[in-house]
Amino acid sequence: MWKNIQPAPPDSILGLTEQFRKDPNSQKVNLGVGVYKDDDGKTPILAAVKEAEIMLLARETTKSYLPISGDPQYSSLVQQLVLGKDCEAIKNKRAATIHAPGGTGALKVGADLLKRFNPEAKVWVSSPTWANHNGIFGDAGFAIESYSYYNPDSKGLDFEKLIEDLGKIPAGDIVVLHACCHNPSGVDLDQAGWDAVVTQAEQQGWIPFLDFAYQGFGEGIFEDRYAVERFSMSGMDFLVASSFSKNFGLYNERTGALTVVCPNAEDATVAMSHLKTVIRTNFSNPPAHGGLVATLILDDTQLYEQWLIELGEMRNRIKAMRSALVKGLADCGVPGDFSFIEKQRGMFSFSGLSDDVVKWLRAEKSIFVVGGGRINLAGLTTQNVDHVCQAIAEAVKAVG
Ligand code: LMR
Repeated sequence: MWKNIQPAPPDSILGLTEQFRKDPNSQKVNLGVGVYKDDDGKTPILAAVKEAEIMLLARETTKSYLPISGDPQYSSLVQQLVLGKDCEAIKNKRAATIHAPGGTGALKVGADLLKRFNPEAKVWVSSPTWANHNGIFGDAGFAIESYSYYNPDSKGLDFEKLIEDLGKIPAGDIVVLHACCHNPSGVDLDQAGWDAVVTQAEQQGWIPFLDFAYQGFGEGIFEDRYAVERFSMSGMDFLVASSFSKNFGLYNERTGALTVVCPNAEDATVAMSHLKTVIRTNFSNPPAHGGLVATLILDDTQLYEQWLIELGEMRNRIKAMRSALVKGLADCGVPGDFSFIEKQRGMFSFSGLSDDVVKWLRAEKSIFVVGGGRINLAGLTTQNVDHVCQAIAEAVKAVG
């Protein structure tokens, strides 16, 4: 069966981790996949998570299936976190939330749902975007287009072009937006920028699909949800894919959610009925453990406070690594002004390193960076940052 079939290329992000694992170099550094590491280079289990797991182990009485859409308490707590506790859409039951296996699972359920009722629509993604957006929406059968977002010259947002492009997208098409901590660029819209994007959506009638995988990694849980709140206030149809991989560190528990926000409660009920049928044919019902852990934390004042502190620590360590990288590159005499790295938000920086430099770093120094130059700042530590900066200086001299 496979004789005449070419092997598929490795995944541009997770494939790097496979190569990293195989690399015998003791000085290897993984700046690829978006996984948080502490200053010892370890991906920790948060103390709040550990405590919740102990509670869960003592309390759980069954491993029976969850409902198709997941535990209702989980959905309700996700809504409060993502939309805000006092959100009018929650009060008026305009939002339908399902428990999905990670942010990717949430995007996939949303993509399949939209394909059913909007088969001719195109999906618009930012230029650049997370590579898997193309994979997920492409595999769901959508044609994919891109809208302007990042300006490589200014290393910032191309706001005028963005608004111009969004103003040309027709009604019914789907626009994937990064609600915070844009992946891969780290360049976000400010509040006035989001207001303008919402206005475009209202005028044009396209459907916003917010990818909200990094809530809490920008400025904080509340600050980072401005875009979601703003779309919710508009009363239009939109979708939000959220994830607890990063902010709870629940990567391998595949814990995420899809929230479909509708103009009214009747529509939300219809949306939920179809969400269930999409889930049933994809994975039947979600895995329980991560969702139950997140539920315990979000529902317990003490654990919640502890989680917020730990999330703040992760956020602040990444910010400190941004500054250390900018200083290190200057100290090593790498030509250019890298101060833009400190202005970007979230886990990633579009470093401006060329593909030749990226290849050289991997081949010569076992430093793994995603093609296009995206660096995961959380892979830097006070131990390895000087080594990385020196390697970049050598690479730029050799091939930059
Ligand atoms: C990333 O962008 O590195 C993360 O979102 C992990 C992934 O699944 O690609």
